[in-house]
Amino acid sequence: MSQSLRFCVLGCGVIHENHCDAITKTDGATLSVVVDEVASKAQAVGEKYGVKHATSLDEVWDDFDAIAICLPSGLHAEYGIRAAAKGKHVLTEKPIDIKLKAAKALVSACESTGVKHACISQHRFAKDINRLREAVLSGELGKMIQGDAYIKWYRTQQYYDSGDWRGTWALDGGGCLMNQGVHYVDMIQWVMGGVESVQANVQTLAHDIEVEDMAQALVTYKSGAVGVILGSTSVFPGMAERLEVHGTYGSAIIEGDRFKLWQVDEAQAQAGLYGGSVNKQPTPSLHVVSHDEQSGSGSSDPSAIWGHQHQMQIEDFVRAVADDRDPVMTCRDAIEPLKVILAIYESSRLGGARIRLEDLPE
Ligand SMILES: NC(=O)c1ccc[n+]([C@@H]2O[C@H](COP(=O)([O-])OP(=O)(O)OC[C@H]3O[C@@H](n4cnc5c(N)ncnc54)[C@H](O)[C@@H]3O)[C@@H](O)[C@H]2O)c1
Repeated sequence: MSQSLRFCVLGCGVIHENHCDAITKTDGATLSVVVDEVASKAQAVGEKYGVKHATSLDEVWDDFDAIAICLPSGLHAEYGIRAAAKGKHVLTEKPIDIKLKAAKALVSACESTGVKHACISQHRFAKDINRLREAVLSGELGKMIQGDAYIKWYRTQQYYDSGDWRGTWALDGGGCLMNQGVHYVDMIQWVMGGVESVQANVQTLAHDIEVEDMAQALVTYKSGAVGVILGSTSVFPGMAERLEVHGTYGSAIIEGDRFKLWQVDEAQAQAGLYGGSVNKQPTPSLHVVSHDEQSGSGSSDPSAIWGHQHQMQIEDFVRAVADDRDPVMTCRDAIEPLKVILAIYESSRLGGARIRLEDLPE
């Protein structure tokens, strides 16, 4: 690549390091400046990486070509729109935003100015999840009948108290689904080919916060398959997140981004009166998830998020700019998991009514 893409990392909190480290290690990218409204945070991170630091974007617009937005979730679209208006490529942390109208405005701003845009969903780079999606799309699992996502994570009250935006409707925009669960909500809707409607119930059971810390949803996919999404930040000590996918030829389970079960056999599915016994077949890459890997997923510690998938997504973003193509997981793609979560909230608000994604109010 001829010219290095100069990045600004906006927000120097928990997740900034994944971005700064990944940008620093990516060919064709340079960390140019870091910004945080808290001067001491901006200064500490600027000094750590040996780059310029500032408390406002207005001081540094000329210093970068692309922005990595690591702000509280309810500020993603606002700052992304400001950056797009200045012709900067936009990479935002998940969720794309907490409001559908704001998320759509961000997509329009990026598309109308022609800048590249992406939203972090680092699990889209997990090899086994991609293999599972291929199997679903190609019909290898037969006709899809069920797809479940279990995100039984744990966060302490101290975690919620550690930032005045955490656990609020105004800036977190939700709880165990909007913040933590969004990853695997995206995975299950992506693997299963999109959600048509949900019926749900959410509660706040274990924390002193405004938003939900338990959520249960019945899902109907666009294909007609059904499933459940269970999210939590109340289950101690925090379990590895799981996808369980069932087609007429068999089943696959992913735990912590790795295959835990793969039992797929067209002939056996058709021959056996009462089905087969579990786990006779090797998975495509059967891998038992260790405790370290589970904690690396962020199931119990928000700062223990795998860095290598952020690195892969940032490398893809940099190549997309160089090659003038869409990155994996554009901001437009990121509207789908946001809609699923907003539909779950709307359903719960209406006492468990069935909400079709296409009928969601903005
Ligand atoms: N992809 C992942 O696995 C992952 C993991 C953690 C967090 N996140 C996402 O990253 C985002 C940030 O989360 P966090 O845990 O790092 O939050 P945080 O509170 O630790 O950090 C946010 C930072 O933004 C700064 N800030 C707030 N408003 C600002 C403004 N207007 N201008 C400049 N700076 C401002 C704060 O001072 C703070 O340093 C959230 O949207 C969250 O959902 C993603």
